[in-house]
Amino acid sequence: MMQEPILDFRSMPKIELHAHLTGSISRQCLHDIWEKKKGAGETDLEDPLVVMPPGNHNYDLKTFFPLFSSYIYHLVNDADSLDYSTRSVVRDFARDGVAYVELRTTPRAMPNAGLDKAGYVSAVLRAMEAAQREEPALRARLILSIDRRNSREEAHEVVALAKKFRSRGVVAIDLCGDPTKGDVSTFTGAVQEAKAAGLKVTIHFAEAEASASDAELSTIMSWMPDRLGHVIHVPAAVKRQIATRTGIGLELCLSCNVHAKMIVGSFEAHHFGEWWRVEGPIVVPCTDDVGVFGSPLSNEWALIQQHFKLERDEILGLAKRGIEVIFGGDDEKERLREIMW
Ligand code: IMP
Ligand code: ZN
Repeated sequence: MMQEPILDFRSMPKIELHAHLTGSISRQCLHDIWEKKKGAGETDLEDPLVVMPPGNHNYDLKTFFPLFSSYIYHLVNDADSLDYSTRSVVRDFARDGVAYVELRTTPRAMPNAGLDKAGYVSAVLRAMEAAQREEPALRARLILSIDRRNSREEAHEVVALAKKFRSRGVVAIDLCGDPTKGDVSTFTGAVQEAKAAGLKVTIHFAEAEASASDAELSTIMSWMPDRLGHVIHVPAAVKRQIATRTGIGLELCLSCNVHAKMIVGSFEAHHFGEWWRVEGPIVVPCTDDVGVFGSPLSNEWALIQQHFKLERDEILGLAKRGIEVIFGGDDEKERLREIMW
C-alpha cells in the first residue's frame, strides 16, 4: 500500500536533467497532432492512443527504440508538430513543479518541413523560448545527443551544432540510442572537441549488458564526463572509480529502468538505494521518457520516498544537491538555491 507522502511532490521545486524531448511527449499531445493531421488527410498512421494504449508503460529495449524510428518520428515530422510538441513537453514539466529542465534531443533533418539539422535545433530552441515565456517559473536548457549509430562525421556535426547554438541555451552533448549498437570509441574525438569548446558532457552509461563491456566503460570514463545516465551494469572496480569522482552527476531513472526491465527486480532493487548516500557523486532522479514510461518527476520522488524510506530532510537535501550538477551556469544555480525548499 502506498504510504502518505511526507511532501507535496508536485509543488516541490524540482530539477530534471535527463529527459529526451521526443520521449517526453505525452500520448495526449501525440494524439492531438495525429487528429489534426488525420483531419487534413496528412497521415495514414494509426492513432497514438491505439499504438501506445494509455495504461501501457512496459516497453523493453527491443520495443522501445522502434517506437521512435517507425512511429513517433513519422508523426512529429514537420514544423508545426515539432513546435506544438516541444511547447507541450515544457508545459508538462512546468505543471509538474519542475523549476529547471535540461531537455536533450538528437538533431534530425525534417525534409517535409524543409529543415536541416540546424533548422531542427533552432526550431526546438524557439519553441522552448516561447514555452518559457508562458511558464516563467521554469527555465530550460538543451543538450544535443549523438546517437550510438552515428558515424564519426555525424558526431562532429552534433558538436558543431552545439557550439553554434550555445548562445541560445545549448549547454552540453550526450551519447544515447540503442545500447546494442555502435562502438563508443568512434566518438572520442567528438567528445574531446566538445570539451575543448567548453561544452559539458553527459553519457548513457552501462544501461544494458551490451553497453557495459570493460572496454566501453573505460573509454567513457577516460572522457571524464560531467554526468552519467543510468549507471546500471557497473562492475565493482568501475563503481569505486565513480565514487572517487567528486561532483560527478548520476542521472538515475527509476520507472524507466523498472518498466523496461533494465534491472532485475522492482523499485526497491534499484541502484538508487546504493548510490544516493555516497558522498562524491551527486544523484539526480530523472524521468528519461515520461511520455513512454508515464511517471512524471513528482511521482519519481514519491516512489523514492515509498521504496527507500527517505526522511523529509533527506529528500529536500538530495533535491538541492542536484543544483551542483546542472549545466545551466552560476546565475541559474543561484536562482535555484533561492527557490528550492
Ligand atoms: P529525441 O532525441 O528527442 O528524438 O528523443 C528520442 C531518442 O532518445 C530515441 O530515439 C533514443 O535514441 C533516445 N533515447 C530515449 N531514451 C533512451 C534511453 O533510455 N537510452 C538510450 N537512448 C534513449
Ligand atoms: Zn536516456
